[in-house]
Amino acid sequence: MIYDNHNRPITYVRLAVTDRCNLRCFYCMPEEGIKYLPKHQVLTYEEMERLVRVLAQLGVQKVRITGGEPFVRAGLMDFLHRLAEIDGLNDISLTTNGVLTAPHVGALAALGVKSVNLSLDTLDRERFRQITRRDELPAVLKTLDALLAAGIHTKINAVVMDGQNTQDLVPLTDMTRTMPVDVRFIEEMPFNGEGSHYPVLHWTHRRIVEEIQSHFPDLQKLPDPPFSTSANYQVPGHQGTIGVIAAFSRTFCGTCNRIRMTAQGTLKTCLYDNGVLDVRALLRGGASDDELTVAFLKAFSHRPANGFEAEQQRDTVTESMSTIGG
Ligand code: GTP
Ligand code: 5AD
Ligand code: SF4
Repeated sequence: MIYDNHNRPITYVRLAVTDRCNLRCFYCMPEEGIKYLPKHQVLTYEEMERLVRVLAQLGVQKVRITGGEPFVRAGLMDFLHRLAEIDGLNDISLTTNGVLTAPHVGALAALGVKSVNLSLDTLDRERFRQITRRDELPAVLKTLDALLAAGIHTKINAVVMDGQNTQDLVPLTDMTRTMPVDVRFIEEMPFNGEGSHYPVLHWTHRRIVEEIQSHFPDLQKLPDPPFSTSANYQVPGHQGTIGVIAAFSRTFCGTCNRIRMTAQGTLKTCLYDNGVLDVRALLRGGASDDELTVAFLKAFSHRPANGFEAEQQRDTVTESMSTIGG
């Protein structure tokens, strides 16, 4: 196991397999979309498999596949099968918007995919269309049904946006009454391709919890699993749980065990850093596994302590979450 310069184990990599997406969520990218990477700049599946293998040898046990939307890239399921063969990896998970996912759910379950995180900001079709700029709520709900029927652990991600979907906090919490899902409300971050939408964050962790408590006064705090990004709660008697991810307040950096690979093969040791290593250049320049290992270890020994320190070391944020993977 490798520990970083702040004594945090590095056991989890988030791998963005594409920067492309079939939705246009306004908190992630502008209406016209972002300038997508030309194909040759995106890591091939072979390149990604190789670097996950090297990371697994360093103690990484979990891979979360992200994007863009992972299922817009052809050949994803074959890639997941190859990842499943890698020694030392014991958790392959996926974050998806659910538009194209339903037909693959059986195969994901057969592969032993541990958990699927589904982006779903509202249960109202018109608000869904406004937020994502596409009319795809029915397809996403079909994916949710399929995941629950297949018994795959499912978390729902809802970004909380002032003036957009705060009326959904209660209905989304209410889903946990009958469904064994973990609904997580996420503080909005400035990764929308343009910079922040607000001068200050209106919906903080605390305000989100207070709003839910005003409708569910007996909401109970649950113990949080190690390395959890969410603070977790449950309405007594409900099957599922709710959580709040203080992604903007960044209160969980002290236990951060995760690194990221962007679609173009840049290593990020914090969501808020600017990219610290061009892994694609190393791979394509003929680096050996030992050379990759040395480069990773050097990066892990220079990690910022938290997302605020990472942010200070760079220019203003103008990236889209679609290139980072969340
Ligand atoms: P698991 O713990 O593997 O379930 O991952 P997760 O819930 O963190 O992953 P998911 O892809 O569902 O992301 C949910 C939200 O958390 C997204 O908005 C991510 O951008 C955010 N997030 C994930 N990791 C970090 C992190 O290290 N720092 C911050 N600030 N936000 C994060
Ligand atoms: N702020 C917070 N969360 C975001 N996501 C995408 N963009 C943002 C943002 N600006 C979330 C999506 C997805 C996850 C990977 O990241 O809801 O579920
Ligand atoms: Fe697509 Fe996810 Fe960005 Fe929405 S948040 S536009 S689903 S990549």
